[in-house]
Amino acid sequence: MSLVKEKDLLCQQFLAKPKKLLIDGKWVEPETGKTFDTLNPATGEVLAKVSEGGKADVDKAVKAARKAFEQGPWRNKMSAAERARCLYKLADLVEQKADELAQLETLDNGKPIKESRYFDVPAVAETLRYYAGWATKLEGETINVNNSFFTYTLREPVGVVGQIIPWNFPMLMAAWKLGPALACGNTVILKPAEQTPLSALYLGELTLEAGFPEGVVNIVTGLGPNSAGEFLANHMDVDKVAFTGEDKTGREIVKASLGNLKRVSLELGGKAPNIVFADADIDAAVKGAITGIFFNQGQVCCAGSRLFLEKSVHDQFMTKLTERVGKMRQGPGLDENTQIGPQVSKEQQERVLNYVGIAQKEGAKLVCGGAAPKGDLEKGYYVKPTIFEGVNNDMRIAQEEVFGPVLAVIPFTSVEEVAEQANKTTFGLSGAVWTRDIKKAHKLAAHIKAGTIWVNCFNVLNTAVPFGGYKMSGYGRELGKHSIELYTNIKSVWVNLD
Ligand code: NAI
Ligand code: MG
Repeated sequence: MSLVKEKDLLCQQFLAKPKKLLIDGKWVEPETGKTFDTLNPATGEVLAKVSEGGKADVDKAVKAARKAFEQGPWRNKMSAAERARCLYKLADLVEQKADELAQLETLDNGKPIKESRYFDVPAVAETLRYYAGWATKLEGETINVNNSFFTYTLREPVGVVGQIIPWNFPMLMAAWKLGPALACGNTVILKPAEQTPLSALYLGELTLEAGFPEGVVNIVTGLGPNSAGEFLANHMDVDKVAFTGEDKTGREIVKASLGNLKRVSLELGGKAPNIVFADADIDAAVKGAITGIFFNQGQVCCAGSRLFLEKSVHDQFMTKLTERVGKMRQGPGLDENTQIGPQVSKEQQERVLNYVGIAQKEGAKLVCGGAAPKGDLEKGYYVKPTIFEGVNNDMRIAQEEVFGPVLAVIPFTSVEEVAEQANKTTFGLSGAVWTRDIKKAHKLAAHIKAGTIWVNCFNVLNTAVPFGGYKMSGYGRELGKHSIELYTNIKSVWVNLD
C-alpha cells in the first residue's frame, strides 16, 4: 500500500503546533479556555486539539474586523491593486504548499489524496486568483437623469462579514467565501466546521504571510449552536453572513439575522435528479452517475442522489453500473489508490447507515453496499458504496439529503413523467440530463427548478460560473461575478448642478 507513513507527512510540524484563534493579525488563546478534538476519519484518532471560540472571542474578532474596516489601511490607504496583490500572493502560497495542504485536508476530512491534491488545492488557488482579478474591476455607473443633476452609483463593500462553512470541501469553501469578500474590500470572520478546521487555520497563517493587514481576515474555530457559529450569526455588528451547510441550520441563520437584519446568503442541500434517457451515450452516463454520487464519498450538496433511468435501458445500465461500482477501491484517503474514503465523522457514518435502514423498510431493493466494511477499515467511518433500485420518488431516501455514498435509482417511462418527478423535491441545487436529443435536453434544462443543470456531464464547476440554489437549496449565487453582488452595496449619489 502506498500509504504515507505518519512521521513522513509534510504537515506533521503544523499538526504539532497549538491551534489558536486568528484575531487582529495575531494567534490568540480562546477566552473560553476550551478546546475540541478534530479526528482523522480514517482511524478515529485525534489529529489535533483546536480552540473552541465562544462569545467573547467572536466579540473580539468582530471588533478587530470592524476596526480594520473603518480605520485600517485595507480600505483607507490600499488601492484595489494592492488588495488584489494580497489575494494573488495568497494563491501563490497555496500552490507552494500544495502537497502539505493536500495531506492536511485528506487527514482532516478523509477524502482521497488525489482529489485533495489535484482538485481541492488547485481550485482554491484558482478561486483566489479569479477574485483577485475582480478587485480592480469593480465599477459604479453614471445615470443620465436630467441636466440639473449629476447622478452616479458607487459599489461599496458591505462591511464586516461572517462566513460559516461546512466540512465537505473545507479549504475550497473557505476560498469561495474569502475570495470575493476580500476582493470587494470587506473584512471577514471565518468560522470553519468543527469536523475540519485545520486547513482554514493553515490558510490563516498564509494570509499573514501574504500581507493582509491585521483584522482583515479573522478565523474563529468552534462549534455551531451556542458556540462560535451561533454567536457570529447573531452578532449585531456583523453586516452580512454567508453560510453553506444544512437547510435546518440555514433557517437558524436566517432567524439569527433578524436582530440587525444583516444580509444573508445561503447555500444549502440538494437532492439532484440525474436523468438518463435510453438515447443517451450509456457508458458516459454510467460514469457520470458514479461521479455524481460517489465523488467526495457522496458528501456533495449537488450530488446526483436520485438516478432516474428510462425503463428500456434500466437493466443494461444497472449491470454496467454495479460492475464498475464493485471495482471501486475504498480505503484511507492517504492511500494514492483510494477512490472512496471514509465519511467525515462517526455522526455522518451513522446518519448514512440509518438511511440504509429507512430505505429497506420503505421497500427499496439494496443492490450493493449498505454497510460499513469489515476488517482493516473497521475503525474508520466508512460506508460501502451503496445502490438502491426500485425506489419511488416519494420515499424518504428520494426526498431527504443523505449526504453519503447512497444512490436511489428510480425507473421512468416518459419525458412527462420524469419531468414532473424531477421537480418533486423541496430542494433545487442541481440536476442533469443524459440524452442525444438536443430538444429534450434544452426543454428539461429550462423545466428543472435548480441553480445548475448539466447536460451529458455531472459535477462540472468553474469559478467563473454561478452556483447556488432554487427553493430550499438557499438563495444568492456564489462564484462568477454574482458573488460580487453578495459582498457589495450600491450607493446612489445625486449632485445638484443648478
Ligand atoms: P451544519 O449545517 O450544522 O454545519 C455547517 C456549519 O454551520 C458548521 O460550521 C457548523 O459549526 C455551523 N453551525 C451549525 N449550527 C449552527 C448554528 N445554529 N448557528 C451558526 N452556525 C451553525 O451541518 P452538519 O450538522 O455538519 O451536517 C448535517 C447535514 O447537513 C449533512 O448530513 C448534510 O446533509 C448537510 N450538509 C450540507 C452541506 C452542503 O454543502 N450543502 C455541507 C455540510 C452539511
Ligand atoms: Mg448541524
